[in-house]
Amino acid sequence: MSQAAPAPSSVREREALSRHYLMCRPEHYTVAYRINPWMHPQVPTDTALALEQWQSLHDTYLRLGHTIELIEPIAGLPDMVYAANGGFTLDGIAYTARFTYPERQPEGPAYGEWFERRGFAVHEAREVNEGEGDFLLVGDVILAGTGFRTDPASHAELSRVVGREVVTLRLVDPRFYHLDTAIAVLDPTGDDANIAYLPGAFDDASRQELQRRYPDAIEVGEDDAQWLGLNSISDGRNVVIAEKAKGFEAALVERGYTPVGLDLSELLRGGGGVKCCTLELRIAR
Ligand code: ARG
Repeated sequence: MSQAAPAPSSVREREALSRHYLMCRPEHYTVAYRINPWMHPQVPTDTALALEQWQSLHDTYLRLGHTIELIEPIAGLPDMVYAANGGFTLDGIAYTARFTYPERQPEGPAYGEWFERRGFAVHEAREVNEGEGDFLLVGDVILAGTGFRTDPASHAELSRVVGREVVTLRLVDPRFYHLDTAIAVLDPTGDDANIAYLPGAFDDASRQELQRRYPDAIEVGEDDAQWLGLNSISDGRNVVIAEKAKGFEAALVERGYTPVGLDLSELLRGGGGVKCCTLELRIAR
């Protein structure tokens, strides 16, 4: 009889925490304009396939024991499926999104009204920001992206609204235009919360800041980032990722996480992946 080898002591047992997410069914999904280098409006999209792939993400979350709420999709807002951009929530507070490009601007109030109805204390943003696309909670700190979409003035505004430290990071590669395309948060809570990131997506100062704060981070290469592999959702144990991100998958296994690979190729054509389709709802303190 064979016995399972004991886990090496460096691989610790990871604990899954059930999470609460907001999603938006891609009923009106298409690529109708170009606001990031992934988007090619001249190439036709397949909305049925997008719906099917989105459903597999939704069902994966349910299977992992997470709670999902849905916002009604609005015709004429094809990017609304990327719910991560709809705002940022913490301790029952919702800080609203204020989009950079006119094509997405009506999404700000649409998500804002949803937060209001859901009972969040809504703080309407004055500064331009694209929600959880550029704001990532890691432990007690919020990492905040700028360079393409979110204005650094909103970093200060968010810090005032939620009373947390907000660390500004500058993105320099147009393919990785939102922070959630360049950083994956692996541990949603805890003092030793860790990340994975693509070093080449950041300017020197930001890269140094990340090295200093997360000496044990997983450094991911372009082979994985090119599928938006970092655009992932972790519950502390299970990490939902793009199935093509094989190097990242192996690094996760080595650290004791359980990767769950999915194909969201149709949604990738809008420039979004797993995390883009998912907004975390942090309801109570
Ligand atoms: N087409 C969308 C845009 O360019 C994609 C958004 C992806 N969202 C994200 N959280 N990275 O705004």
